[in-house]
Amino acid sequence: MRKVKLGLVGVGVPSAEPTWKARLHWFVPSIAWARYFPKIASLNNAELVAVCDIVEEYAKKAQQVYNVKQTFKDYDEMLEKADIDAVIITTPNRFHAPMAIKAIKAGKHVLVEKPLATNLDDAKKVLEEASKANVKVLALPWIYTKFFLKVKEIIDKKEIGQIAIVRSRYSHGGPGHSEWFFKAEEGGGVIFDLGIYPISTITGWFGPVKSVQALSTTVVKQRIIKDKPMNIEVEDNAIISLTLENDTLASIETNYCTVSHVGMMHELHGTEGTIFLENGDIDLRFFSKKKLLNGLEGWISLKDAERAQKVWAVADPIVEYFIESILENRDITFFVKHQVHVIEILEKSKISAQTGKRISLTTTFEPSKEIKVEY
Ligand SMILES: NC(=O)c1ccc[n+]([C@@H]2O[C@H](COP(=O)([O-])OP(=O)(O)OC[C@H]3O[C@@H](n4cnc5c(N)ncnc54)[C@H](O)[C@@H]3O)[C@@H](O)[C@H]2O)c1
Repeated sequence: MRKVKLGLVGVGVPSAEPTWKARLHWFVPSIAWARYFPKIASLNNAELVAVCDIVEEYAKKAQQVYNVKQTFKDYDEMLEKADIDAVIITTPNRFHAPMAIKAIKAGKHVLVEKPLATNLDDAKKVLEEASKANVKVLALPWIYTKFFLKVKEIIDKKEIGQIAIVRSRYSHGGPGHSEWFFKAEEGGGVIFDLGIYPISTITGWFGPVKSVQALSTTVVKQRIIKDKPMNIEVEDNAIISLTLENDTLASIETNYCTVSHVGMMHELHGTEGTIFLENGDIDLRFFSKKKLLNGLEGWISLKDAERAQKVWAVADPIVEYFIESILENRDITFFVKHQVHVIEILEKSKISAQTGKRISLTTTFEPSKEIKVEY
C-alpha cells in the first residue's frame, strides 16, 4: 500500500512534560502530541517522516518517541529538503495561512489546524492558492461527528419544524501551556480559539450568516502560564449573536473562565420541537411534535456510550480523511470555502465587540451535501 509521507510543523510538548501547575487547569497537551503523532502511528497508509519546531528539543523529543527520520528548526528548509508529500500545520494561529500558502506553492498537500487564518484577507489568499493548485487542503475544525450528521438530518427533514433559535456554549478554563493564546499579535483570544467550533457547526447545519453582533470582556486580567504570571491582553469571554440567511438566530457563549465542561453544547428550538446536544457529543435528545402525532415517543435520546469513553483526539477521523482524500484524489476545496466564511464571522465578531455595531458579512458558501463520514 502507498504511504503518504508527512511533515509536521509546530511540535509543542506532551502533557506530562513539563509538569507545570497550569496543567492542573489544562490537561490537554499540544495538539501534535494529542492527535497527530498517535493517530499517524496507528495508520498503515501514512508515515511521519519529518518534524519541525523553532525549539529544537521539542522536535528531537518527537523524533525519539516516534522514530521520525528528520528534524528541522526552519519551516522553509523542511519544505525544501524533506521527502514529504504533505504538511500538517500545528503552529500558533498567525502562522497558519502563510505556512499553508508556502506549502501549497511547494506542491505539498496541507492539513491546517484551526483557525485557517487570523483575518479574512489571509483566509481568501489560502482559498485562492488552494483553488489553482493540484493539491488537497483540509482546513479544520472538523465538525462532522455522528451527532452533527444526525442533527443535520433532523433539521433537513423538518422534524422540529422551522428553527427559530440556536443556543450554543463552548468554553473551558483557558490554555496554560503556551503564552501565544493570550497575545493579540499571535491571533490569540477566545473568539478565534473556541468561538470557531460552534460557529463552524452552526453554519455547517444552516448555511451562511447575514450579520453578526458581539460583546466581549477580559475577565481574568492575569493568568499563570507555564508557572509564570502573564498579563492578559485579549478577550477571554464573549457572546456572539448571528442572524442566519434563513432567519434563524444563534446565540453563542464562549470563554476561558469555565472550569466544568458539563452541560448543553447546543440547543435548537423549532416550531415543531427541540434538540439538546450535550457537551462532548455524549447524548443527543430531541423532541418532535410530529413524531408524537405519529404515535412515537416524544423525547428520543441517542446516547453514545462508546464515544463517551474515547479520548476525543484519538476518536476523530481527521487524519484518515485527509490521507484518503489525497490517495483517492477527492475534491475537498469545500472545507476551505466554509472556513473563509467562518473566519469572516470571527473577524467581524471581534470588530463588533470593539465598536458596538452590528456588522453584515461579505462572504458566503454552499453547505456540503457530500460529507457523510461518521466515527
Ligand atoms: N492543544 C489543543 O488542544 C488544540 C486543539 C485543537 C486545535 N489546536 C490548534 O493547534 C495549534 C497549536 O496548538 P498547540 O496547543 O499545540 O500549541 P503549542 O503552543 O503547544 O505548540 C505550538 C508549537 O509551535 C512552535 N512554533 C511556533 N512558531 C513556529 C515556527 N515559526 N516554526 C516552527 N514551529 C513553531 C512552538 O515552538 C510550539 O512548540 C493552534 O492553532 C490551536 O488552535 C490545539
